[in-house]
Amino acid sequence: MTRPPESDETVFDIDERHPPIKTRRVSFDWTKTPLHWIPGDPVGTHIINSFHIVLPEGEKWFIQCVKDARPYIKDERLLEEIRGFIGQEMVHARSHQGVLDQILEANGIDVTKITVPAGKGNADRPAQMAELKKKNPRSWRRRLRFELAAVASIEHYTAVLGQWIMDNDRLDKAGVDPTMLDLLRWHGAEEVEHRSVVFDVYKAVGGRYPTRAFAWVVSLFFLYWALIGGSLYLLKQDPTYGRVRPLKVLRQYRRSVRQGHIPGIFKLLLGEAPVYLRPSHHPSQVCSTPRALEYLMGSPAAQAAGYDPY
Ligand SMILES: [Fe+2]
Ligand SMILES: [Fe+2]
Repeated sequence: MTRPPESDETVFDIDERHPPIKTRRVSFDWTKTPLHWIPGDPVGTHIINSFHIVLPEGEKWFIQCVKDARPYIKDERLLEEIRGFIGQEMVHARSHQGVLDQILEANGIDVTKITVPAGKGNADRPAQMAELKKKNPRSWRRRLRFELAAVASIEHYTAVLGQWIMDNDRLDKAGVDPTMLDLLRWHGAEEVEHRSVVFDVYKAVGGRYPTRAFAWVVSLFFLYWALIGGSLYLLKQDPTYGRVRPLKVLRQYRRSVRQGHIPGIFKLLLGEAPVYLRPSHHPSQVCSTPRALEYLMGSPAAQAAGYDPY
């Protein structure tokens, strides 16, 4: 994965530990985006589409966790970063919901089997947490720390994937739908910008290494389930794909990775273990905010939203 460039590679002078985090109220027009937005690659398309299924509710859960921790944060700078984080994740959730409604549902692909239970989980969570906090504050603290550690792990991957997609010019050469590419890169760029926030919140509420490592393992299983299960679920409903045979899907997955349309998910997810599990790890040590800002300066959606990087 890409590490921060040398300082003379960029015009931006950024504190990687505390970059400014702005909410950009972008919007996307999906009327021209085809179902297979990576041309000729339904497997690659649906592997990335599986993120669209889990992100709207997933990002609302990230926000809930951070909001639960916020009253215990004293550091003014971190509180300011939390404000930026919540604003960015709210717009992300809304933008991915647009893909579900206007591309997948519009093409006869029903994702409610996943999104409805996830939505219910989010709707029930505040009352559950309030009840737990009243009855057993220690268990509440333990649960909140575990959830924050899980979100911090997932945020590591969203930042790493964000960097991957910003740096990957093979998607442009493959003729990927420009609106979808902009959504993924704008989101990826903002993931890079706010990559330290949840990690820092976790530390600020007393989160320690053993829970961080355990939550990473749990998150890894969740991500494999979401990516593999989600893409098979979508392929089965894809009216143009035909029968879903495991060997055929595996062959097309390998070709998609070879062509650079998607990262090799096994290598990428496990390959980050030595990085994320280093006890001294901090998210500011990976990815590049100047690269994110460089992308956002040219992002059609960010520019249309009136974003000025200066
Ligand atoms: Fe996000
Ligand atoms: Fe995020």
